[in-house]
Amino acid sequence: MSSPLAAKRIVLGVTGSIAAYKVADWVRSLKRDGATVTVIMSKGGARFVTPLTFAALSGNHVHDDMFSMSMAEQIPHIELAKQCDLLLVAPASADAIARLAQGLADDLLSTVALATEAPIMLCPAMNSKMFMHPATQTNLARLAEFGYRIIKPDVGAMACGDDGPGRLPEWHVARHAILSIFARQDLTGRSVLVTAGPTWEPLDPVRFLSNRSSGKMGYAVAAAASQRGASVTLISGPTTLHAPPGVNTIQITTAQEMYDETISRAEGIDVVVKAAAVSDFRPDTQADQKLKKATAKAGTLTLHANPDILQTLGQRKGKCHYPLLVGFAAESEDHLNEGRRKLREKNLDLMVVNDITGVDCGFGVDTNRVTLLDYNDATEELPLLSKEETAHRIWDRVARLLDSQ
Ligand code: PMT
Repeated sequence: MSSPLAAKRIVLGVTGSIAAYKVADWVRSLKRDGATVTVIMSKGGARFVTPLTFAALSGNHVHDDMFSMSMAEQIPHIELAKQCDLLLVAPASADAIARLAQGLADDLLSTVALATEAPIMLCPAMNSKMFMHPATQTNLARLAEFGYRIIKPDVGAMACGDDGPGRLPEWHVARHAILSIFARQDLTGRSVLVTAGPTWEPLDPVRFLSNRSSGKMGYAVAAAASQRGASVTLISGPTTLHAPPGVNTIQITTAQEMYDETISRAEGIDVVVKAAAVSDFRPDTQADQKLKKATAKAGTLTLHANPDILQTLGQRKGKCHYPLLVGFAAESEDHLNEGRRKLREKNLDLMVVNDITGVDCGFGVDTNRVTLLDYNDATEELPLLSKEETAHRIWDRVARLLDSQ
């Protein structure tokens, strides 16, 4: 399935940190995303993981010598600098950071860093005391001034036994930062509120009514907006997903809680995208104690309607600065007419209609096939895409709507 990183040429500088072993897995992930990865290893890096490991994972020659003429008799640092959409230095050791900050050029990595016009991203990873040392902090500040993107290391237990800042960030954090470099920055300055996931409507302390939403679609919408420069708030029902980096994520459980959080935050927001599968109903009564088979007769369950969050937002449109509204319609039949009906009834600007009966779209899966409907009844049918790509296609359309406001 397509990824925004497909065909991107990434030159990966691996330097002397024990975290080099984790970066081997990053290469596999980048390859799965369809990127090409060419690795440069510093002498220190090669002491932690062999070049053979990275050659096998990347499928490309690993460069460790500035004067090796192994690139078809070209000058490696110039060729690598040209064949590069991103220079990623991970892990970035204290020594590599110092060398880059001083503009040294006596090894392949530092020379490529001077010669390339591509963005450069550093993932510092080292002992906490080394990371916090004024020399390292000064070097990082200097590189930030040069326009280098620096991903803050994680805080936690280090291989050396210390505890503090200096751990290599998780891959999903690094991947989000990489995607942000390549994403069109057409939502800079915009504020966005996204809802995602299911809601749980309690029956008793153990049981609840819910649905099969995993949150993947909504989280992809929030992550894509953040990558494109927006300030993003995500209101999420219960999921097992990582909160997207750089997104203000608010966890809720019930439809009423999602209503309260969404309505209280919507005013002044530029765009609201409601990808959440909000329970339309909740049990009329919520038992304080677990219902016992003996007492709870297998009778009927009385349901009470939950507030329709999107309908409420639609009714308030036109008053003061109210957001552009994007809804999702989870349909199993008569998709487009149902989508049009909901768009009109809820006074939306865009409706994303998805067929939840398809094996590869809707609830729980990593892909979706949606049709975008707008208030002029313009219809845009998207092919089967990853939810990540679907999210970007939705933002492409929303960005055009924002520009036409
Ligand atoms: O989370 P995933 O596993 O990735 O699955 C994605 C998805 C299928 C959940 C998602 O693509 C989707 O379709 N979300 C909307 C599901 C839904 O509730 O659709 P609906 O047709 O029942 O509701 C229409 C719109 O009204 C939705 O934007 C919904 O958020 C909103 N709504 C519904 C009920 C309610 N009480 N308040 C609402 O705001």
